Amino acid sequence: MDLEAEVLVVGVLQSTAQSPSLKLIDAALGGALSGIVAKEDFSGKRDQILSLATLGRMKAERLVLLGLGERRGLDAAQVRAFASKAARAANGEKAKTLALCLPNGIEGRLRVVAEGLELGAYRFTKYLTGDRAPKTALAQVTIAAAGKLAPNAKAQVALGQRIGTAVNLARDLSNEPGNVMYPETFAAAAEKLAKSAGLGVEVFDFKEIRRRGMKLIDAVGRGSSHEPRFVHISWTPKGAKKKLVFVGKGITFDSGGLSIKPAAGMGEMKHDMSGAANVVALMSAVAEIKPKVEVHAIAACAENMPDGNAYRPGDVWGSLDGKTVEIVNTDAEGRLVLADALAYARTLSPDLIVDNATLTGACVVALGTTCAGWYANDEGAAREFSRALGDSGEQMWRMPLLEELREQIRSEVGDVKQAGDRFGGSITAALFLREFAGSGPWIHCDIAGPSAIDRPFAWMLSKGATGHGVLTFLAMVERAAHSH
Ligand code: BES
Ligand code: MN
Ligand code: ZN
Repeated sequence: MDLEAEVLVVGVLQSTAQSPSLKLIDAALGGALSGIVAKEDFSGKRDQILSLATLGRMKAERLVLLGLGERRGLDAAQVRAFASKAARAANGEKAKTLALCLPNGIEGRLRVVAEGLELGAYRFTKYLTGDRAPKTALAQVTIAAAGKLAPNAKAQVALGQRIGTAVNLARDLSNEPGNVMYPETFAAAAEKLAKSAGLGVEVFDFKEIRRRGMKLIDAVGRGSSHEPRFVHISWTPKGAKKKLVFVGKGITFDSGGLSIKPAAGMGEMKHDMSGAANVVALMSAVAEIKPKVEVHAIAACAENMPDGNAYRPGDVWGSLDGKTVEIVNTDAEGRLVLADALAYARTLSPDLIVDNATLTGACVVALGTTCAGWYANDEGAAREFSRALGDSGEQMWRMPLLEELREQIRSEVGDVKQAGDRFGGSITAALFLREFAGSGPWIHCDIAGPSAIDRPFAWMLSKGATGHGVLTFLAMVERAAHSH
């Protein structure tokens, strides 16, 4: 129990404050712990935390007891959140080393524990200089378990670390400010990453986007001095029996365009490429796990700005699909770049298309900032997606594609109107996308709420981008790989 690390975090299940590990620690502290536990009423309730200095009585300088709640019903999400909080506590102590003591029964969840450690240690500190720059980083974690470990325990930890790192990559891409991360630099980052991971990658520049007839990406991107880019990353193993395509909205900054947004909160729109960041991050995880399924990632990148050359409300634009679109609000730009990306995705003849986008404020009004919304046009795909959500523990709530709302996007001058009225705004956006998704199975995730947060939630403890979605998409890939 006397583990060598600056910080020792002990996970405590509810009503096990008499656990053997705590007894050992209590002895090392000369009986001081049991007194404090009683005084503070620490019983291991979920999220209960007790932090104390050990004043030289133990090898660890600080001891943190973290409540895990009842053993029954302890799921992947809670274990991940627990490990994340442990890493965050180590960061808070400016520690380089952490020892994490798992309670009995969690030793089979090492992958999720390692994911949590990576996710909890994450900070975006790139632009802090001098005194503000962090001097230390968590470099080493010892995981201690009382129960028997599986033979592949070390591999599970390594895998979890890689997955956590992939999600953190999505956060890094999304946290970059708009002056640094614009379509060209996003595409360059994605290309570099794909190449170093041994994945296939293609980037279409503005000329190629226009040549191919991606007119809606053209419309959205033309008001910015930063040209749009279209990114396609692929993992194509031999003998793959399934093909999944993931599509992401990559608006590197969304000013609203001529239908300009109010000043308050506009800065948050640097995260409007979180969907694109997610699919790139997913591919980096796919390159690690090497599944026997084909996986493609498509990122439609543009910056939405007002300008003399910008597209306007009232415009009618063609699309890669061929349908014409009547523009009513240049701030509904995400669905436009996605429409062309979906039309392109269809040409790959996939078994399933999954898109994800910071698409509507309406979805945030409906579900809050901790839960995404999802839609499906196919019940088989919906079942798989539900199961993947169960695997990942990410919060996403299924929303209905209400046919009666379709009339909102009927246009007099074009084939489809870009947006409906205020009510049901997330649904009409999904109905618009459906027009371009084709007849095959398709899932749409509106991640506007949880893509970036301003307060800690679950295992996402640092403000800003979360990578919400990556874990579920990876679970989809893993399910597809194991289904034959
Ligand atoms: N990127 C926004 C949606 C958004 C809102 C993302 C809040 C994250 C947090 C999107 O492009 C947008 O502006 N949508 C409009 C659509 C409307 C004009 C039909 C919206 O939701 O207001
Ligand atoms: Mn917008
Ligand atoms: Zn947007």
